[in-house]
Amino acid sequence: MQELIEELAAALAGAKRVVVLTGAGTSAESGVPTFRGGGPDALWKGFDPMKLATPGAFVADPDQVWEWYEWRRAKIAACEPNPGHHALAELEGLIDDFLLVTQNVDRLHQAAGSRALIELHGDLWTLRCFHECGFSEERRSPPAYPPLPRCGCGALLRPGVVWFGEGLPPGAMERAFARSTRAEVFLVVGTSCVVYPAASLAEVAGGAGARVFEVNPVPASRAPGVRVLAGPSGEVLPRVVSSLRRRLEA
Ligand code: OAD
Repeated sequence: MQELIEELAAALAGAKRVVVLTGAGTSAESGVPTFRGGGPDALWKGFDPMKLATPGAFVADPDQVWEWYEWRRAKIAACEPNPGHHALAELEGLIDDFLLVTQNVDRLHQAAGSRALIELHGDLWTLRCFHECGFSEERRSPPAYPPLPRCGCGALLRPGVVWFGEGLPPGAMERAFARSTRAEVFLVVGTSCVVYPAASLAEVAGGAGARVFEVNPVPASRAPGVRVLAGPSGEVLPRVVSSLRRRLEA
């Protein structure tokens, strides 16, 4: 592992353009359940996404959908960024042209200090109008539900996340693609790489010549030539950033 950590740190030290893609595993050590994977708490093991995370599910049973999101919001509100989040925030300050692309909706990257970031799947704390009148508002507390929250236009408010079957926030994927094709180093962290188009970013970057590295105890990326650091991000990333700092200060 130490050899791979040094290899990644050396690649970062020589790179001006770096993109990092994160997924739920990045927040696992903060106590946020992942969607898939080995742990007993993986969300899609115990819950059916088609009954909780689609527009149709919301029309059919908004109480059930909101109850689940309020449970997640309460759980995640008690979670703090872990050393992996902090390492990525620190990395942003060490690279000229840095972008973090996240599939996470928990906002723990921002809590750790990350600023150059695209949220591909929205976030849990913004509520927006289900009828798309344009209203949206950050509402962390008091609990959004119960009762069912309503927009001023009379429609229901919904969680500001991207559901299955929906498009990504306008422009988000285009910007992420553009930066990924120009990246010299692309780092994939804590994602099962099964949800597209997010998963394609590493493949696109690798195909365009980026050196691709993955941090995940159960590696999943299919990017060409990917180098795997098989371990938890909260342990691996701080070691990478320490080594990078040493190299930059030398
Ligand atoms: P998943 O739950 O599919 O995958 C989590 C990944 O994190 C797995 O590959 C685990 O091996 C890895 N992992 C677990 N613990 C880790 C740790 N400590 N350090 C590093 N990696 C660890 O999560 P995502 O890939 O983010 O979409 O899922 C993608 C999308 O599917 C989510 O954004 C969500 C979900 O349905 C929407 O809600 C639209």
